[in-house]
Amino acid sequence: MKLVFLGPPGAGKGTQAAAAAEKFGLRHASTGDIFRQAAAEGSQLGVAVKDYLDAGRLVPDELTSRVVEQMVVSRTEDYILDGYPRTLQQGRDLDEMLRRRGEHLDAALYYRLDDREAVRRLTGRLVCTRCGVNYHRQFVPPRADGVCDKCGGGLSVRSDSSEEVVRERLAEYHGKTEPLVAFYEEQGLLEQVDASAGPEEVTRRTEAVLARIAAD
Ligand code: AP5
Ligand code: MG
Repeated sequence: MKLVFLGPPGAGKGTQAAAAAEKFGLRHASTGDIFRQAAAEGSQLGVAVKDYLDAGRLVPDELTSRVVEQMVVSRTEDYILDGYPRTLQQGRDLDEMLRRRGEHLDAALYYRLDDREAVRRLTGRLVCTRCGVNYHRQFVPPRADGVCDKCGGGLSVRSDSSEEVVRERLAEYHGKTEPLVAFYEEQGLLEQVDASAGPEEVTRRTEAVLARIAAD
């Protein structure tokens, strides 16, 4: 399966994509993770994207689509694209990359969540510095303070988690990303998932959708 996970920041795309990738044997490809890793390494790509990440603004389409083509679409394995496409232009770029390869998307899962809840989730998020698993101070707390349940790594706060930057990310989402909902609806690929429930319930909903698509 080739999938897109769409939805506002904080909807739980990363949390759900990690679980679904493991369950269905897919690669979890997050443009946010790719950019953050590049920024941490100080590579040429990292230098180009760092200011956008810190401000909560979208990285330019041309650069983002080039990275996705090189690092994800041109490889042979199936994948979940988490956080790409994020603009109509990126949606068209992805269609064109797939068309050139004689491939197609199987579905775009749209995780719906209101802004108030998104802000609560994002301002409380903790991330493992070693394996990247997400926690939340209140909703998904680790068993031991500041320590990852899965690998024992330390937990940190993402640099774009301040309320001011979160508001900017939500504004970018509503202005530039939301039109993709209609874009995928018109292609008959949209699958809506109510993301307001707890993580296990959203995982159950995601698995039900993916099991149906896999069986088609
Ligand atoms: P990216 O890393 O993709 O950030 P985002 O889309 O803003 O999404 P988040 O990762 O913040 O949220 P999520 O939906 O993955 O939720 P999560 O599972 O973490 O992008 C970062 C930046 O990179 C962008 O601002 C931009 O600069 C750049 N970028 C990336 N892709 C780009 C592109 N295509 N084009 C241009 N620029 C791009 O969960 C959030 C929190 O909630 C966690 O604490 C989690 O534990 C908790 N949680 C999750 N699910 C639940 C639940 N069901 N109930 C309660 N809590 C929950
Ligand atoms: Mg994410």
